[in-house]
Amino acid sequence: MTTSSSSESPQQAPAKDPWDLPDVSGLVVGVLGGTGDQGRGLAYRLARAGQKVIIGSRAAERAAAAAAELGRGVEGIEGADNAECARRSDIVIIAVPWDGHAKTLEALRDDLAGKLVVDCVNPLGFDKKGAYALKPEEGSAAEQAAALLPESRVTAAFHHLSAVLLQDEAIEEIDTDVLVLGERRADTDVVQALAARIPGMRGVFAGRLRNAHQVESLVANLISVNRRYKAHAGLRVTDV
Ligand SMILES: NC(=O)c1ccc[n+]([C@@H]2O[C@H](COP(=O)([O-])OP(=O)(O)OC[C@H]3O[C@@H](n4cnc5c(N)ncnc54)[C@H](OP(=O)(O)O)[C@@H]3O)[C@@H](O)[C@H]2O)c1
Repeated sequence: MTTSSSSESPQQAPAKDPWDLPDVSGLVVGVLGGTGDQGRGLAYRLARAGQKVIIGSRAAERAAAAAAELGRGVEGIEGADNAECARRSDIVIIAVPWDGHAKTLEALRDDLAGKLVVDCVNPLGFDKKGAYALKPEEGSAAEQAAALLPESRVTAAFHHLSAVLLQDEAIEEIDTDVLVLGERRADTDVVQALAARIPGMRGVFAGRLRNAHQVESLVANLISVNRRYKAHAGLRVTDV
């Protein structure tokens, strides 16, 4: 005979509110390739939101110069070479060009062990017709990162931001959603929370890394939008 009283049923944890995100304000964020447009923009916005940020570069002096320049407007930005940046950060954003992606990550494998890595790299080609998506052997830049960094927690996010808007000090809010992908909910929650530190921005969970290729590729479409409408387009996901 089987019985089914509530006391015998397996305990079901109440469903977690997907917008109940962790406090990430005390985490140090490193940005590899942080001397470039995207890295500078993210570093500036995160520091402006109160996050401690380390700009990384292949040359410590270039990182220090970028940090000093951005530090005229906000507090909490330092510079270091990429390896030191990775070691001293809790969350490490990869903001190097696709061409240097694999080589950079291979060289930093040990420094990035145990870190939460956020890949924002869009593998794109350009010809006279405009931008087009490249298909990495691993499926996407994010999956290449996951393959090269087995001891890191790799996520993907921040692909669709305009570096121009991020760096514009006169702009108070960045009006966009950020699609966040990864294999572990605890990690994507942290990255969503990080995106939400920037006024106007919201991090939205968008699946596992095997679906990162579409997200990275969509930038080619956004570049077409920007050219046609002379804009710095972002994205919004409706009804969530
Ligand atoms: N720009 C945007 O609006 C935007 C938006 C979303 C995502 N992204 C993605 O973010 C990444 C960076 O974009 P970006 O426009 O900032 O690029 P970028 O200015 O061309 O490069 C960023 C930095 O990466 C370092 N770097 C250059 N070549 C490298 C190589 N071969 N190996 C390692 N490091 C190298 C340089 O820093 P050091 O010389 O100081 O090392 C450079 O300042 C790209 O993958 C892009 O797809 C860009």
